[in-house]
Amino acid sequence: MTVIRRKLFLTVMLVSGILSAGPEWSAAHESGGAAPVVERGVIDPGVVEPGAAPTVLITGSNRGIGLAFARHYATLGWRVIATCRNPAQADDLKAIAAEYPNVVIERLDITDHAAVDAMAERYSYMTIDVLLNNAALLGNRSEQAFGQLDYDLFRRIIEVNILGTMKMTEAFTPHVTASAQKKIITLGSAAGSIQMINPPPDFYAYRASKVALHLLMKNVALQLADQGVLVALINPGLVDTRGFAKLGPDDPVPDDFKEVVRLLRSGALQLSTPEDAVDQMVTLIDNLTPEQTGIFLNADGQVLPW
Ligand SMILES: NC(=O)c1ccc[n+]([C@@H]2O[C@H](COP(=O)([O-])OP(=O)(O)OC[C@H]3O[C@@H](n4cnc5c(N)ncnc54)[C@H](OP(=O)(O)O)[C@@H]3O)[C@@H](O)[C@H]2O)c1
Repeated sequence: MTVIRRKLFLTVMLVSGILSAGPEWSAAHESGGAAPVVERGVIDPGVVEPGAAPTVLITGSNRGIGLAFARHYATLGWRVIATCRNPAQADDLKAIAAEYPNVVIERLDITDHAAVDAMAERYSYMTIDVLLNNAALLGNRSEQAFGQLDYDLFRRIIEVNILGTMKMTEAFTPHVTASAQKKIITLGSAAGSIQMINPPPDFYAYRASKVALHLLMKNVALQLADQGVLVALINPGLVDTRGFAKLGPDDPVPDDFKEVVRLLRSGALQLSTPEDAVDQMVTLIDNLTPEQTGIFLNADGQVLPW
């Protein structure tokens, strides 16, 4: 990039306030982190710097699998754009950002389409190797039972899991297409596999949202195949994102998960840790092939039925 173009970039960013750190950016610093490695204004869209660390953008990275992804990619030295709805309360994520200067935290609610567009615009100078659509809303089991469906919750689940994820994908496809790795990874769910549903049916809204998401990502895979973008749908398996394995015998268990905890304690059910699930998924993502694009995959690479 010529000096003039670089100056122009920097001027635009100063004017737009990007270089005067926003609250999330400051939070990463305040929590003890060094200057973020995200080289604002350095990477030209469409031009991949040889030898530059790859970049991953993760949604819902404050807890659960998203947090484990953020930590994993941080330790690998990737540039991590870790988004979450409420950075002020994202203590675990802030601790990662404090330790790894290659992590930047961004506030983002994926149902806020204007905010998604604004962020995509702010990062328009950067390529994103892996867009990791992780965020989702599961919702309560009782409000998703046939006969007592809460339609407000149903709509919220659709807003997050289908529309929010789709909006992220649309908004950040140019960043991915311009990158070296060109990967869009979406966390699907076996709960959204029509062939794999067993009675008793539950989580009506969540299941429906994942079925639709699977279909949309299949379409996106076909849409972007010509541009060399790999679009993967991964089922992480049953992952203990709520710390059930660590519960003591007298600890309270939410009603929705009493059965899960009972099965867990009896040994009839096994949950993987977020770290183990992420290890598996990162291996899959690293080795993703064009043949796996638009396919529903288990974390171990096995093909799952729609
Ligand atoms: N855990 C499993 O066993 C399992 C199994 C199959 C599939 N999955 C899929 O794997 C992914 C991660 O699961 P998880 O268990 O880690 O989920 P989780 O613990 O429930 O965390 C969900 C994450 O999504 C975020 N989120 C929710 N609504 C959002 C919104 N509107 N905008 C931005 N972020 C939002 C949450 O943020 P807040 O903290 O602000 O709510 C949180 O960070 C999901 O797509 C899930 O469907 C998980």
